[in-house]
Amino acid sequence: MSQPILQATGVTKRFGALVAVDQVNFHLNQFEVVGILGSNGAGKTTFFNLLTGLFFPTEGSISYKGRDITRMSPPERVALGLTRSFQLTSTFDSLSVVDNLALAYFRASRTPTIASLLFTRTRSFHDHPKIRESIETFDLAAIEHRLVQSLSLGEKRRLEIAMAVLVDPEVLLLDEPLAGLAESEIKGVLGVLRRQIGRQTILIVEHKISHIQDFVQRLVVMHDGRVIAEGGYEECLNHPEVRRSYWQIDPAEDAQHA
Ligand SMILES: Nc1ncnc2c1ncn2[C@@H]1O[C@H](COP(=O)(O)OP(=O)(O)O)[C@@H](O)[C@H]1O
Ligand SMILES: [Mg+2]
Repeated sequence: MSQPILQATGVTKRFGALVAVDQVNFHLNQFEVVGILGSNGAGKTTFFNLLTGLFFPTEGSISYKGRDITRMSPPERVALGLTRSFQLTSTFDSLSVVDNLALAYFRASRTPTIASLLFTRTRSFHDHPKIRESIETFDLAAIEHRLVQSLSLGEKRRLEIAMAVLVDPEVLLLDEPLAGLAESEIKGVLGVLRRQIGRQTILIVEHKISHIQDFVQRLVVMHDGRVIAEGGYEECLNHPEVRRSYWQIDPAEDAQHA
């Protein structure tokens, strides 16, 4: 098998005495769709932030396409093709959906400054093929001229993912993209993400397994900073440590019911 596109080896992150991420080994193969699952406080976001470069690990190393990125900044990682949907791709709420897409695209494609871009008017870019394609792919046509501040959470989430995808990342990293969404909006967001399968490698962090069970190809379950199980959905669900830690099923009780 070819080498993983993204790999973490023995990665630990301490905050003072607290070990938020504890000796994690992790890999992502090209075009894989992997989910990191775990209850609140399991260390998912901290691990995610080690991958994106927001934090550096206390110990261990991270490589991207065989290159050591352990101490690279988030923008350096984005430039290499590793991107995340939120935090880095903040939206401008007083601009329209299509203006936000135009800004995201031209910011990524080395247009001098955002100020100069606003000055030349983003409108002239509305018909750019990449922007039209993005509007189509992420079902944004009906809302393209609405201001971002008037969007529902689900609509805004689709825009944020569209903005992340516009820069053509090889790896799309998503930390709880479904958080706070209604069931119908979750379907919408997973629907647009599904269209990226085979074009991008996708890592999605989620704490509710039911949301992603039909979406991911492989699961990594974290608890107390450690990876406690890894593999297919059934395999992880039935793993004794996942039953104990994630589902909080007492093994003794479990035996009684068996
Ligand atoms: N910046 C930080 N400073 C100190 N402790 C933190 C920080 N970020 C997270 N933690 C702690 O690390 C642990 C893991 O948190 P987190 O990675 O956010 O878990 P999850 O995303 O799985 O809910 C928690 O105990 C949390 O309180
Ligand atoms: Mg989190």
